[in-house]
Amino acid sequence: MTQRGAPDREVPPAAPLMGDPGPTGRFGEFGGRFVPESLVPACLELEAAFRDAWGDPSFRAELDGILHSFGGRPTPVTECVRLSGELGVRVLLKREDLAHTGSHKINNVVGQGLLARRMGKHRLIAETGAGQHGVATATAAALFGMDCVVYMGEVDTRRQELNVFRMELLGAEVRPVSSGSRTLKDAVNEALRDWVASVGDTHYCLGSVMGPHPYPWMVRELQRVVGDEAREQCRTLLGGRDPDVVVACAGGGSNAAGTFAGFADRTASALVGVEAAGGAALTVGVPGVLHGMRSILMQDEEGQILEAESISAGLDYPGIGPEHAHLAAIGRARYESAGDEEVVEAFGRLARSEGIIPALESAHALAWVLRAAGTPALPTGSTVLVTLSGRGDKDVGQVRDILRATTSGSRR
Ligand SMILES: Cc1ncc(COP(=O)(O)O)c(C=O)c1O
Repeated sequence: MTQRGAPDREVPPAAPLMGDPGPTGRFGEFGGRFVPESLVPACLELEAAFRDAWGDPSFRAELDGILHSFGGRPTPVTECVRLSGELGVRVLLKREDLAHTGSHKINNVVGQGLLARRMGKHRLIAETGAGQHGVATATAAALFGMDCVVYMGEVDTRRQELNVFRMELLGAEVRPVSSGSRTLKDAVNEALRDWVASVGDTHYCLGSVMGPHPYPWMVRELQRVVGDEAREQCRTLLGGRDPDVVVACAGGGSNAAGTFAGFADRTASALVGVEAAGGAALTVGVPGVLHGMRSILMQDEEGQILEAESISAGLDYPGIGPEHAHLAAIGRARYESAGDEEVVEAFGRLARSEGIIPALESAHALAWVLRAAGTPALPTGSTVLVTLSGRGDKDVGQVRDILRATTSGSRR
């Protein structure tokens, strides 16, 4: 209705939350496409190809079929009976740890692999931190018969040695990156450099909801399956209700974005993203541009990117995807952080009380649940859904070393 006397103009309908950001790839003041001129055509080509594929029922059907028969979807939602009893809060887990290759990363790479094939590219490149995205990309490359190169910070190749070997077994070449902090941020830089030089035959299979448009939108859409499945599974379990709180860990933010996409517009569930305390862009960061996107980043006064520092390689990133910055800015999601010690505690607690060893990344979301249970953020009697983004096999050696160092330190 127009007010009397006010100009009679149409009010544009509010854009749906977590919908299509349009050709500019903007989420409020965040997102965009900040790339060298040589990459602009590649980003435009990718956006056009994804729009076309995503609107094509045969592409969607093929993707769904592979995610089912090869990827293990749908993953279940598990009720944590003992932990719920201990916390006084009903805890449900969305089990991405049970997906093929051990994490949610497979959802994104199968989609991008299919898209690369449709675009006539025969080489996949990727960056990886914890190695899970690298393993998933190597897996998709093997499945589709493509060449594969994975960039990984030198520090991460050491702490995730087993995943390096896994990628090699799958036929990928792993290139250690020795610049900067020798972690995820530097691996993204190298992958972007490779892409500039090889864009004719190569698809850059970016692993999270970050980077230049269309990646944050495309990767969120490819991960949306997590949230869509979880919402329906929760409604079945909870007699048609939605969980009061939905929690996911956030590095770049893809498992959180995929999860939130199922709930943001359709439910009143509170959404909580949990970053590593040493990489908590949304707690200590400020707006800036990195890796082709405008988002919230950890920077010093001169705008230099600060080093992230976390035991979990997958969350060791000084920024976060631009849509999360927007969800935080408009208050639809809130972002917390968890420290290394409480994460190791949460890792062991889930193992002992539920028989599930989580990835260190996912243990950040659990650590927040343990801390928040019984407080106004997660009141006694409420229901919380946690996306368990991955399994902890890759982290068992690292946690063993941490626990051994702690016990030998306390004996001294
Ligand atoms: C198991 C697991 N969870 C979460 C993440 C963080 O990525 P994202 O924030 O994109 O979900 C990673 C990254 O490697 C991971 O391996």
